[in-house]
Parts: sequence; structure tokens; C-alpha cells
Amino acid sequence: MRIGVVGTGYVGLVSGTCFAEFGINVTCVDKDTNKIDGLKRGIMPIYEPGLESLVEKQIKSGRLSFTTDLGEAMKDADAVFIAVGTPPKIDDGQADMSYVYAAAKEIAQNLDGYTVIVTKSTVPVGTAREIEKIVKATNPDAKFDVCSNPEFLREGAAINDFMRPDRVVIGTDSERAAEIMRQLYRPLYINETPMVVTTPETSEIIKYAGNAFLATKITFINEIANLCEAAGADVQQVAKGIGLDGRIGSKFLHAGPGYGGSCFPKDTMALTQIGQKYRAPQNIIETVVWVNAERQRSMAERVIDACDGNVKDKKIAILGVSFKPNTDDVRESPALVIIPLLQEAGANIYAHDPIAMNEAKKHLDDVHWTQDAYEAATDADILVIITEWNEFRGLDIDRLGKIMKEKCIVDMRNIYKPKIMKQAGFRYISIGRPEVKSD
Ligand code: UGA
Repeated sequence: MRIGVVGTGYVGLVSGTCFAEFGINVTCVDKDTNKIDGLKRGIMPIYEPGLESLVEKQIKSGRLSFTTDLGEAMKDADAVFIAVGTPPKIDDGQADMSYVYAAAKEIAQNLDGYTVIVTKSTVPVGTAREIEKIVKATNPDAKFDVCSNPEFLREGAAINDFMRPDRVVIGTDSERAAEIMRQLYRPLYINETPMVVTTPETSEIIKYAGNAFLATKITFINEIANLCEAAGADVQQVAKGIGLDGRIGSKFLHAGPGYGGSCFPKDTMALTQIGQKYRAPQNIIETVVWVNAERQRSMAERVIDACDGNVKDKKIAILGVSFKPNTDDVRESPALVIIPLLQEAGANIYAHDPIAMNEAKKHLDDVHWTQDAYEAATDADILVIITEWNEFRGLDIDRLGKIMKEKCIVDMRNIYKPKIMKQAGFRYISIGRPEVKSD
């Protein structure tokens, strides 16, 4: 089988490469000549563990190629995947659909026999119908069907998520299109991956509802963490205690500094807009969006409180600026909210991140970027862990104690045990867990 993938961003590149691994001939197309030239030479436009070697392997296999020519990508294709961006509009947070619709129009001009036009990008409900209209208007003789096939890839674990998904969602009215989609995902039958074959509208809502539910789960446990702090309880035990109930489930119950990234913030905002458009207000999600924004801001207060209410001229060591580990993505990262608030309050910031410093430099001023965690911590008044990178999980605590000015840590990801930190002589403040005051 043969497919074209339009857009070599995160979703397009991972999906295209993994489909090639499934044995399908894939041509990825992008307007950005530099990106395509780079990819042909094995240079990745994003950081994703395992992607570079898989791209190299599939280029060598002859099943994966890159081009700037959409016509070439669509030649003899059974399906063409739209995987371009749907960024939030600055004014109201609605998904900006201009790239998707432009891609649909160009696809219509280049159709080569019956083709399934698939939306992989996260798109509001109604998009598949809109694409159908655009294609028919542009090319009245076109033979095609439209299918919604949302992605559920987590950054940092995207290849595994594609190869071993919890489910595949296929939204189309056409049995012919559904069959082609089933064929494309055939290698997953061996793992008995559930396939949800449904209408385009249902499929489009599944994507937003899934992300919004996960964002709600995180926001819920974050508020429970506040209660645990006030009442002297332990949120990790609470999460375990409720998560063992199969109806709730244990995943996505880690309290932290608030969710970030390119998906949850964008998709929750967009869902509130979709709800308003359809006169079906999404009150819970509107609240989640607000609570999460407050949560990120309140984390700066937590650091200031730990410094007895004053961080003026204090040296603050920050560990981690990406929105989560194993990615260089800093979009909507809590660090981009917390660091400027601490700077406004007069703090000097010394920060380290294993991968994301170059990205963060584009958004943050006056940060002293360091070679490692220890350089950041030297003479620091306080150390703040914002992202739970593996290399921050095994820090030499005795060494930290010797090099820091004050032995004080705010751990926003609960990666250390309060008792052990106390024994090492630290004041240790974490999320939703009682501070150990004395032995
Ligand atoms: C998310 C979803 O998990 C994917 O299924 C989905 O396909 C993707 O969005 C998308 O729409 O493209 P991603 O944004 O890569 O994936 O990252 P997650 O691992 O879901 O984490 C999102 C945020 O939630 C991070 O800031 C993370 O630190 C935070 N989080 C996650 C918590 O604070 N607590 C948790 O228990 C889990």
C-alpha cells in the first residue's frame, strides 16, 4: 500500500515513519525546503527518542521518502494524511484551521484516482464535512472519501504509542475508506488492538474529549494535593487509594505544577470554544483551563514562600524547563510562567535542562544557563525541580548540601522522599505531601 503524509511536524513525521515500519510505502511532504533537505540527510526537526534511527532505517528500506512536491507524494496513494498544525488563534483560542483547509484544497488539485483523505491533525468537530465540501468544490470529479483518524501520541513516547496504541479510532461514513484504514493498521491486529470505527463527528469529538478528560484528571489531583497540604495528608497515597478503583484508574494522577505542552492547553481551550459554538457549554473544561493557569502561577508563590516571602537578589537554581521529560518542547511549560514571576520578584535564575535549553532561550531572558544541575545549584539559596528528567532523579544529595548556600528544595514533581531529604538536612517542600519538620 502507499500513502502520502502532508506536514512533517511531530505527528506527520512520527506517523509516516511508523507506517513505513508497518511495511507501507510512505512519502512525507512539507513546504519547508530546509526541513525536507534535512530529513533526507537524516537531520530531525524535533527531538523524539528513537525517531532518528527509525527514519534512517526506513529511508534505507526504500519505504520512506521526503519531498516538497504534493503531487509526487500523492501519486498512486491509497490515502493521504493531513498532519499540519492547528495552533490556537491568539484572540480566542479557537483552532486555526487555515493550514488544514489549504492542504485540503491542494490535495483536491492533486488527487490521483480514488484516495482516502485522512485528518490526523487535531481538528474541531465538523472538519471532515468541511474538507469534503472544499474538495468537491475544487475538483468536482474527484473520487475520494474523508476519514478522521486522530492521533494519541505522547511526546517522548510517540513511537511506542503509535506501535502499541490502546485503540485506533477511524471516523468515516464510507465502508471502502474504513477498509483501507483497517488495512493500513493491519499489523496491529496481532496485538488485538481495539478499532473504534465510527462517524467523522464522533471520531473528532473522541480526540478532544480524551485530552480534556486527561487534563481534568490532572487538574483534579492537583486540587486534591492542595487539600492534602492543608490537612496534612499525602496526595500520592490518595492517588494510589483512588486509582486502584478500576473505574478511576491509576494513570495521570501525578500531582504537579500544572499540565503544559502543545496539546492539553490548546485542546482544552479549543473544546471550550467548540462548546460555545454548538451551544453546549463545556463548563468543567472552562474551569479546568482556569484552574490550571492559576496552578502554574501559584508555583512561583510556593518558591517565594519557601524563601520566607522574599526572593530579591536570591539565587534560584531551576532544574528542568521542558513541559515534561524526554522532549525539548517548552510550549506552555510551567517553567515559562514560574521563571518570569520569580524574576519579577527580584530573583536571579540559574537553570539547567538536559535538552530544552535552546528552545527555552527563545522565550526567557536573563537566565544563566548552566552545564549541569550542580553548576546551577552552586551557592543557590533554593533549588526548584520543575521537570522530572531522569538525571534529576538521582542527584548526589550530599554534594548538593555542600555546594548550596541554603539547603532548601522545592520539588514540584515529588521525585524525592521527604524523610530522606530531611535526614540529609534539607528543608524539602514537595506537592501534596506533608513537610517533615522534625525526626
Ligand atoms: C498528550 C496526550 O497524553 C496524548 O495522548 C495526545 O495524543 C497528545 O497530548 C496530543 O494531543 O497530541 P503530551 O502532550 O505529549 O500528550 O504529554 P502528556 O504525557 O500527556 O503530558 C501532558 C502534561 O500533563 C505534561 O505537562 C505533564 O507533566 C502533565 N501531567 C501528566 C501531570 O502533571 N500529571 C500526570 O499524571 C500526567
